[in-house]
Amino acid sequence: MTGPAAKTWRVGIAGLGTVGAGLLNLLSDRPEFAPAGGRVAIGGVSARSRSRPRPFDISNLPWFDDPVALATSSEVDLFVELIGGSDGPAKAAVEAALAAGKPVVTANKALIAEHGAELAALAEQRGAPLLFEAAVMGGTPAVKMLREAMVGDEIKSVAGILNGTCNYILTEMEATGRPFAEVLAEAQRLGYAEADPTMDVGGFDAAHKISILAALAFGCAPNFAAAEIEGIDQVELLDIRLARDLGYRIKLVASADRSPDGVLVRVHPSLAPLSHPLAQAGGALNALFIEGARIGRIFLQGPGAGAGPTAAAVAADIADVMTGAVRPVFQAPAATLAAFTPVEPSKSVGRAYLRFLVRDEPGVIAAVSETLAEAGVSIESFLQKPVEDAGGVPIVLTTHAVAESVLKAAIERIAGLPAVIDRPRLLRIARI
Ligand SMILES: NC(=O)c1ccc[n+]([C@@H]2O[C@H](COP(=O)([O-])OP(=O)(O)OC[C@H]3O[C@@H](n4cnc5c(N)ncnc54)[C@H](OP(=O)(O)O)[C@@H]3O)[C@@H](O)[C@H]2O)c1
Repeated sequence: MTGPAAKTWRVGIAGLGTVGAGLLNLLSDRPEFAPAGGRVAIGGVSARSRSRPRPFDISNLPWFDDPVALATSSEVDLFVELIGGSDGPAKAAVEAALAAGKPVVTANKALIAEHGAELAALAEQRGAPLLFEAAVMGGTPAVKMLREAMVGDEIKSVAGILNGTCNYILTEMEATGRPFAEVLAEAQRLGYAEADPTMDVGGFDAAHKISILAALAFGCAPNFAAAEIEGIDQVELLDIRLARDLGYRIKLVASADRSPDGVLVRVHPSLAPLSHPLAQAGGALNALFIEGARIGRIFLQGPGAGAGPTAAAVAADIADVMTGAVRPVFQAPAATLAAFTPVEPSKSVGRAYLRFLVRDEPGVIAAVSETLAEAGVSIESFLQKPVEDAGGVPIVLTTHAVAESVLKAAIERIAGLPAVIDRPRLLRIARI
């Protein structure tokens, strides 16, 4: 007995940069890639420049100057968006494909974090899957983990390292003792960081990703605007060294926590104990903890970017479309997604690392600790260490859990003490 002929899926690929090239290479290297028996054929490609030299031959592929025309072409059954950017041609093409009822696969975290709810509504209204595994952690399957494997549980929190560029820079700063600007310049020369590094080092890329994970974890619409974001551009070598003396490593940690008050989404340079898996994830690695009420803690670690890993995640989504898997875009149908109630960051409670640069004179330590005690901040550990060329004596301490508003009020009072000669530094200790 023979079944119906397996379908050939004609895929339209918009964007032929790092990930687009990775996908074309993957599809040509894996002719056996045939989920559910169906095959993939390239229905057309689009990029900015047709003549730009590329690591593969596109002369035999149908070319579209306009990604929207590719998305709606009758020669395309499935549209893959690998252009990037929250708006502009990427959004226009994704909307056009969904409006035409075509499945969409994208690696675009900015688009999903900023317009995910409206795109999910359009996708579900038109009965077209919208998949974005590659948008978070590149080749490491965080999206499917939350959307599929852990959907039976109630997720309490997700927290991790979601930006490989920042992780690389922090790792290099610690390993080589070079300051942020120097390591960033080298990362740009080596192609690990973009010419405009703001999205990465400013924490925005990690915030896009954690906003998506929060939506998947908690069944709410992504709300990037509510994320509290601090990047690594102000992280100083001195703090990396002093944190290490206290048994910690500084990482850019993105987290989303659910409480009865709502959801708190934040990205901060944070201290992780040296022996903790997040502290051990060095270089460009990504790492993520997911905590479920019943499952407990899951730890994922792997490549968060790169042509091969990211293309493999895109191909996994293409496979889902080909096998006919149907799920809501986020954890619940778009129409029933819970409103995302942001928790006021000042109400959050956690441990902290504080550094004050003070004049070397009697009574300073007493003044700092008295001010903290009066404000209700309890000290966990204390370090006073002469550091060459620091311009004063650094006083470093970690606190027990304290409300952020209380902590900030205390820091302001200490900043006003006559012996304090520089802006105080505050880093959070990761709740992991
Ligand atoms: N790189 C990674 O490792 C990685 C990992 C995870 C997710 N992502 C996401 O994947 C997406 C693509 O990233 P990428 O690193 O591959 O970017 P990229 O290397 O900068 O490539 C972007 C591609 O989009 C094309 N493009 C730009 N404007 C266009 C327009 N108006 N019409 C048609 N094509 C246009 C460019 O054309 P030209 O080639 O002609 O300039 C280029 O081929 C982004 O959303 C990114 O966030 C990337």
